[in-house]
Amino acid sequence: MKTLAVINQKGGVGKTTTVINLSAQLASEGKRVLVIDLDPQANLTVVMTGGQYEFDTSITDVFESAKKHPIVNAIIPAVSNGEPIANLCICPTDIRLSRVIEQSLTKVHRERILLKQLESIASDFDVVVLDCPPNLSLTSVNAMMAADLFLIPVDGGSFSLNGLADLLDALEEVKETDDVNYAVFRNEYAKANKLINNFLDEQLNGLGDKVLKSTIRRSEAIGQASVSGETLLNYQPKSSTISDYRQLSKEVYALLNV
Ligand SMILES: Nc1ncnc2c1ncn2[C@@H]1O[C@H](COP(=O)(O)OP(=O)(O)O)[C@@H](O)[C@H]1O
Ligand SMILES: [Mg+2]
Repeated sequence: MKTLAVINQKGGVGKTTTVINLSAQLASEGKRVLVIDLDPQANLTVVMTGGQYEFDTSITDVFESAKKHPIVNAIIPAVSNGEPIANLCICPTDIRLSRVIEQSLTKVHRERILLKQLESIASDFDVVVLDCPPNLSLTSVNAMMAADLFLIPVDGGSFSLNGLADLLDALEEVKETDDVNYAVFRNEYAKANKLINNFLDEQLNGLGDKVLKSTIRRSEAIGQASVSGETLLNYQPKSSTISDYRQLSKEVYALLNV
């Protein structure tokens, strides 16, 4: 089992959208995938559980007491348009997550709660995909501890090289290495937007092969699918953007080295 964290402390760059559609792609290829919602805003949970927001056990309960609520109790089938998606499960979150995490400040090994829990289900899944919150909180540190690879979406509108440098610093610190396994890709790519594209190419140039060849185009269908509680694969299987996710999943899977 390998763990992928989709991470960027900026909101609105496409983390959740990437988790939904990349995991759907991987599951459609037969990989056993678990997605975990680590953002108390619960966007991933809403889309992939058919609009539920209360659960017998959520990832919040796991963080509150992993002894009472082992992660296996929080795993449910992910759905698209009300139908379970083959090979795809989700650990939902709820709005209590940030408060519960704050209260765990007194726990020893509080940064390793998620890592420890994932070890207990290592034989059940091929890939775990973490949807991170838009900050570098203790929740994000748990994700950093647990992940083998970090996938960082950037978009043209709000891109900041400083923000990216801060994130990479945090990853290096938590992983205690300056050779972090990460990959950056462009989300909401629009070919016609030459000014932004040139700017981003220049900014990202220094990262060399850490920048993936794959990009995800800007596509109205992506947002429409999420609003309808569906994966793009389900909502519009013939969409040309599907091929973007197929390409991305290939590159990412190769980097996960599974
Ligand atoms: N490639 C894309 N094309 C069009 N809209 C997108 C694309 N990626 C994300 N969006 C939209 O942008 C908004 C923010 O995306 P989201 O995945 O929620 O970001 P984050 O999780 O980083 O906050 C959502 O409304 C989503 O539907
Ligand atoms: Mg999100």
